[in-house]
Amino acid sequence: MALKATNPTLTKSWQTLSSYHDLIKDKHLKEFFKEDESRADKLTIKWQDFYIDFSKNRIDSEGLNLLVNLANEMQLKDAIEKYFSGGVINQTEGRAVLHTALRAPESTEVLVDGENIVPGIFEVKRKIKTFTDAIVSGEQKTFTGQQFTDVVNIGIGGSDLGPAMVVDSLQFYKNHLNTHFVSNVDGDHFNEVIKSLNPETTLFVIVSKTFTTQETLSNANSIREWFLKHLPKEAVADHFVAVSTNIDKVKEFGINEENIFPMWNWVGGRFSLWSAVGLSISLAVGYNNFEDLLSGAHKMDEHFKNEDFNSNIPVIAALLSVWYNNFFNAESQAVIPYTQYLNQFATYLQQGIMESNGKGVDRSGNPVDYQTGTIIWGEPGTNSQHAFFQLIHQGTKLIPADFIGFAKSLHGNQDHQDKLISNFIAQTEALMNGKTEAQVVEELKSDEKEENEIALLKPFKVFQGNKPTTSIFIDKLTPESLGKLIALYEHKIFVEGIIWNIYSYDQFGVELGKQLAKTIFDEMHNKNDIVNHDTSTSNLLEHYKSLRG
Ligand code: F6P
Repeated sequence: MALKATNPTLTKSWQTLSSYHDLIKDKHLKEFFKEDESRADKLTIKWQDFYIDFSKNRIDSEGLNLLVNLANEMQLKDAIEKYFSGGVINQTEGRAVLHTALRAPESTEVLVDGENIVPGIFEVKRKIKTFTDAIVSGEQKTFTGQQFTDVVNIGIGGSDLGPAMVVDSLQFYKNHLNTHFVSNVDGDHFNEVIKSLNPETTLFVIVSKTFTTQETLSNANSIREWFLKHLPKEAVADHFVAVSTNIDKVKEFGINEENIFPMWNWVGGRFSLWSAVGLSISLAVGYNNFEDLLSGAHKMDEHFKNEDFNSNIPVIAALLSVWYNNFFNAESQAVIPYTQYLNQFATYLQQGIMESNGKGVDRSGNPVDYQTGTIIWGEPGTNSQHAFFQLIHQGTKLIPADFIGFAKSLHGNQDHQDKLISNFIAQTEALMNGKTEAQVVEELKSDEKEENEIALLKPFKVFQGNKPTTSIFIDKLTPESLGKLIALYEHKIFVEGIIWNIYSYDQFGVELGKQLAKTIFDEMHNKNDIVNHDTSTSNLLEHYKSLRG
């Protein structure tokens, strides 16, 4: 059941793609459109409430077929089969990767070590539902017999970013509970959050897959200390719950077994919002909305699993990302949601994409000699237009961008919505077409500028254009459509990892810094002799020690 290991650059398709790239690398998007009048229709996928226009990308149908050939040569079909059926595709950690099972219907059978995991998933879902309903309705009371007013999610990485992004994105659907997130080990973070909270009416959800993460345990301990300054020890049972695979450690922390929501090793942290890690989502928007989120993701799973690669949204999105990363040498990709609700979306994707595919060793254990994981970044439009768009339009770097928009505004202010979407559409048009010298001169003349001024200004006002974008246009932001969107990117990550011949589901790269921080922490407290650091590191440590007193 292991994934095949093939160097993609040695495949026949890669060579063909290189030759094709040589032919079209300088071709302007305007030419692509001139050559084929049906291009926009051909390269747009309409699926359910999604309208995805890939036509403003620097490729034509022939090139896309070549990319699909690459996917076939890299045995993507076989890999998808393994992914969904519980193959140990996270081979370096000896685990299956089954976040898709978390949103599958109850009748599905997915075997891990010979056992169907779906009944266990539904048992936990029922627990989430019962708990959510009791808290939201006020039936389950606080220690002092009141209704809960606030929920604090204590976790980091995948135990924070997914739930925080979804709660923020779905704030339109929120109930009366105020939801907060504490993640950073920076004590100022938790102190800022708790300063406005009433411990008597606050529920704390400690989320840690391993229950060994320094940040989460430090925050959980400090918050419990603060809590115990206001309430007796017996109140902890009513106010603290945990989500983890490590039941023993949670009990050691002092949380009762009935307050533990289990998760499993086959759920990667950065793909875990669909599990009990999403408890704070369920509490914030209600269980039915949480279910809708899952059901949207499941719809995208079905599309991804069954659709031909040529019309498969995550597959095309991933192949384009390989196209720019490996053939055009683009280092980063931007994600620009045209909705303030998706303010945290790029930050969330950074973990998913960069922790998964930031790998330099292939599936045979050899260093790769080609580029892998892309840098991902972005901010909502229109704010980002007034921040970094200058560089995308006229800078020297090629930055392919995903534009994400929703046709309907949730509060129904049509004037603002029309302005917002005009900007979305205009930016993709501007990035593609740019502005020629002739257009610039024409404009300056009509502004009655003198000849010498025109000559001076002209070069600075030209836009080369030919900047690729993908427009992801969705009818409305709902829990279901958000679920589809997140799952789209999850599968994109998977496909990229298959093509790049890397393991996407481990994250050993985050370990070294953690180990060194522990050593330095001990040295700071004179528990260890100072080891042989380089002089820069030793000086920093000494400087800090002199200031902390
Ligand atoms: O950053 C490393 C990491 O292991 C992530 O993959 C994970 O989401 C995060 O730490 C938190 O881990 P845990 O849920 O075990 O506390």
